[in-house]
Amino acid sequence: MLAAWMAWADLPFRQHRYETLRALPADSNAILMVGNSITDMFAWHEAFDHLPQPYHVCNRGVSGALSDEVLENIDWMVAGHPYKLLLMIGTNDLGSGIAPQTVAANVDSTLQRIHRLSPRTQVILHSILPSTVGTRTLDAERETNRLLAQVAEHNGATYIDLFDEMMPITSDTAYSIDGLHLTARAYSIWCRRIAPLLHPDCRCAMQPTSPADHRLWGSASMRIGYYGAIPTTPNDILIVGGEMAKCGEWNELTSNPRMLNRGGGWGAMSDEQENATIEATLEYIAAHKPEYKAIYVLTQRREAPADNGRIHYLPLRALLDEDCFDGPYLNSRGYLQVAQLIMEREGDKVTHIQEPTTTTCAHTVFATTGRPFAQRIKAADNIAVKHLPQGLTWNARHSRIEGTVGKTGEYTYYIVSEHSTDTIRLTVRDQLPQATPFMGLLTWNIFEDEISDQRVRTLANAIVDLGLDKAGYRYLCLDDRWAIYDRSTDGHLRYDTAKFPLGMKALADYIHDHGLRFGIYSDGGTRTCSGQQPGSLGHEATDAQDFADWGFDLLKYDYCYAPDPSTDTALQIYTNMAQALKKHTSADFIYYMCEWGERKPWLWGAEAGATCWRATADTRDCWENPTYKGGVLDNIRVFNNIWPYTGINRYSDADMLMCGLHGSGKSSNAGTDGKGMSQEEYRTQMILWCMWSSPLTLCFDITNLYDGHSRCGTKVYNPYYQEDLALITNHELIALDQDPWGLAAEPIVMDDQWLVLQKPLAGGDVAVSVTNLSDRAADCALNLRDITELDETNTYQATHLISGRTTPGLRPAHDQFWFKLPAHGTAVWRFEMETSHTH
Ligand code: GLA
Repeated sequence: MLAAWMAWADLPFRQHRYETLRALPADSNAILMVGNSITDMFAWHEAFDHLPQPYHVCNRGVSGALSDEVLENIDWMVAGHPYKLLLMIGTNDLGSGIAPQTVAANVDSTLQRIHRLSPRTQVILHSILPSTVGTRTLDAERETNRLLAQVAEHNGATYIDLFDEMMPITSDTAYSIDGLHLTARAYSIWCRRIAPLLHPDCRCAMQPTSPADHRLWGSASMRIGYYGAIPTTPNDILIVGGEMAKCGEWNELTSNPRMLNRGGGWGAMSDEQENATIEATLEYIAAHKPEYKAIYVLTQRREAPADNGRIHYLPLRALLDEDCFDGPYLNSRGYLQVAQLIMEREGDKVTHIQEPTTTTCAHTVFATTGRPFAQRIKAADNIAVKHLPQGLTWNARHSRIEGTVGKTGEYTYYIVSEHSTDTIRLTVRDQLPQATPFMGLLTWNIFEDEISDQRVRTLANAIVDLGLDKAGYRYLCLDDRWAIYDRSTDGHLRYDTAKFPLGMKALADYIHDHGLRFGIYSDGGTRTCSGQQPGSLGHEATDAQDFADWGFDLLKYDYCYAPDPSTDTALQIYTNMAQALKKHTSADFIYYMCEWGERKPWLWGAEAGATCWRATADTRDCWENPTYKGGVLDNIRVFNNIWPYTGINRYSDADMLMCGLHGSGKSSNAGTDGKGMSQEEYRTQMILWCMWSSPLTLCFDITNLYDGHSRCGTKVYNPYYQEDLALITNHELIALDQDPWGLAAEPIVMDDQWLVLQKPLAGGDVAVSVTNLSDRAADCALNLRDITELDETNTYQATHLISGRTTPGLRPAHDQFWFKLPAHGTAVWRFEMETSHTH
């Protein structure tokens, strides 16, 4: 039985294991345990005490691995520049008739590669352990170890030899289940001997324990034997099952060290084998009564028993989509989904905040399959980019990753500088909620408490009549004051029936019938910012369900009355709502965070599950607002520093556009003289918002834009209506905002007088804006040489996007633009390449 079972650690299995491990980022504090089944089968991250923070041990063992496979895979393993790497490999080579010299040569090449790719990584090379199973002989093993010792010395690696000490493996069932694989007793010897090599303070945490369970197959029997040897706590979540449980590095997938792997298997399993493993594991747990919070039993069967106390069954084939599996295995997407499922059920957060390093970039990025993708990296040092998925390349000149990914999936790549490694997770989907920033209208500044069904319908009609929907403004969003003060006795938010007598669903239908999408507002604290309606804190599931049932397509989630101001709490609160929304809404639902940029949401908003976040205070209808911030200049100061974080499906929002208000808004007048801004200033705002790829949201009564033909009356309220309408529907400006790369413009000049921004666009065009920040009109000379995004080997045609005037034949290395700009005015061009030279 054993031999047949072991044969399953075959090539497809190994490929699957390499693939899924490859998707797990390991950073510069990781200690990687690399090897074959002897390494793979152990619970490394639980096995040690006193390993100082932030070091952590990661299992990178692959059952059945050969030394040449380790060499083939070492590049991605060390891409994160791990702190240490322990390698024990060779016994399978000997078992397959491969000579000791070949093993040593492969290990030698592996060590050389590690040194070249990650010189900081300290390598511990381990002797192979004794075994006489199959064609293995003690003589060949001794010879291999003699050569490995030389390889270690030659490469400056630490060498550890436990061959003689582990000799009982070959004959004593207390040490080995099969003459090759270890029992708890042997693991505890190994664990004790290598602990101080990992770190001087590190100790083995294993306790003496019961022997292996010989009723079971291979891995399952030995693993069950040592479960009792590793102490658990009342916070621990045990993941039980066969191969699908065993091959998940659950603690890494969830960033939660209390997720403990209790699966067994080393290859594809039949249902019977999986069942037997599960039963024996649960029996063992029942008999030994370890402490734990919950047990999750993963099974490949479609049906599973109902929950039994703290034991929960997850029938994976029924719960997950087909694209989560790779034949008999879970793929990396599947592992992530299961991890998220468990964490959701545990009400725990699934992500942690990656601390900023000397490199400035987003850590969670998105792309649509087959569509252009780009990520800007701002780095002080020289950097290298490792393990880009197929289709992406590193453009060193423009410090940008760019290209197209053809296959959906979760990818990991690394930005490596001299002092740090940044791990980037890229999610590629056929569709994303915000492939480009959303555009629409928010009701707050128009109505506040005077919101009503009738008024919202009038806005919907106006959006369509004015063609704003065709220009892109498709989201009509209810803001604060749509609900009444208290929840119902059964805990639901209640829309104000005086304001919405026909009900929310009827209004949603009306909006949808007009080809528009409908947004709602709530708050992550106990009350919304007006104080007049309840917040969603603690009611996330109910509210998300209601928002979905009513037909909403977007949630703006504010942050007044939150329990405390910390980032950790905010991350938790926003993650909770994201998870609730995910359960109840469709994949294109937009989750819009609004904590006003106070906790740097560009560092963690995407990780919390949002696709855009307010980066600034509430915008006000003025140039600068010393009291409340939110003037155009206040926003410029924020966006000058956060531009590298913006990208597809992760937008920093500069808040509502003030264009069209002319002092007529509600809260937008706070801290202003009430007169609104000049047309130049409104234009500057629209241009900058587009340069930053901010969501574009209007907040003025657009029914005022009618030119005497309004269904609301014959009055022309707004003398600037034509100009305002032309500005907010300027197709060329909107195209900058909606560029498929979704990048935010980079400031190349910012002083008291001038702000010059450049924005690379998908396809090679470049947008350039120049803003006169001073209070007087001024002459400007723009040297094209300063626009580093332009390629000096090409000539360009520049189109002025307000006047439409074009200037052909521009040479970046030589030419200059001269122009005059009024106070607070902005000029913006789109540079298109005229020629392209091959080099
Ligand atoms: C906060 C938000 C605003 C608006 C109000 C509603 O101030 O930032 O955009 O939603 O709350 O009360």
